[in-house]
Amino acid sequence: MPNLLVLALPLLVRLVHATPAPGRALQRAGIVGGQEAPEHKWPWQVSLRHSAQYWQHICGGSLIHPQWVLTAAHCVGPEVQDPADLRVQPREQHLYYQDKLLPVSRVIAHPNYYAAQDGADIALLELEDPVNISSHVHPVTLPPASETFPTGTRCWVTGWGNVNRGEPLPPPFPLKQVKVPIVENSVCDMKYHSGLYTGDNIPIVRDDMLCAGNSKRDSCQGDSGGPLVCKVNGIWLQAGVVSWGDGCAQPNRPGIYTRVTYYLDWIHQYVPEEP
Ligand code: ARG
Repeated sequence: MPNLLVLALPLLVRLVHATPAPGRALQRAGIVGGQEAPEHKWPWQVSLRHSAQYWQHICGGSLIHPQWVLTAAHCVGPEVQDPADLRVQPREQHLYYQDKLLPVSRVIAHPNYYAAQDGADIALLELEDPVNISSHVHPVTLPPASETFPTGTRCWVTGWGNVNRGEPLPPPFPLKQVKVPIVENSVCDMKYHSGLYTGDNIPIVRDDMLCAGNSKRDSCQGDSGGPLVCKVNGIWLQAGVVSWGDGCAQPNRPGIYTRVTYYLDWIHQYVPEEP
């Protein structure tokens, strides 16, 4: 790419960002708190791109197999997306600077998905061709079904999303990471009921969700679909998919993730266990 275009790209991107396509809420990259990710870290992180956004970032995702990406259903639905309108950018340090977008052959959103707050916010994308696996681009491990990710587990969330509510990641759009504390489901549900009229007997945080974060550390708009990973016995396991929240990093409002263990059987209906 000519140098001028490389320099003009962030500007162009900001201009285009300001004008969302009709019918689709604009979603951008961000992580609240934390710091830029080291170059060699998080090799499974991908950026999901959409034709209606001029192939800009709409969501995160993760490689779970050389030919399969895990993301959130709200990133690709509820109206079924034509695979031709989606592309996947494997791990890059700065969004847009080294783009080599990969075509998608199949989009599979969970059939029970309706809205993120109702759960089943999970989707799979099959790539037309498997990615070239290297030390900086390779799949993450899925957790065993029995893994609950209790309070105290060391977990991180990564993405190019907003760095605060309504505050996009500034150029040169580095991938960000933040360590987030796991909040147990019943505690998270109680926190979400605080300040709301929703009866305590009506659950907000469901069994297929997982909470993490606090008032300083959270994912945010644009991180959706990206991975929450936890180091268990020395291996990184994907515990969650960035799904929803009430603002970003607000008191009593942890980030809410789709609980990956809940959907392992569904994932393996499509994705082979071994690459
Ligand atoms: N739904 C948002 C998106 O589409 C992600 C929200 C995550 N929010 C949070 N507070 N963790 O990008």
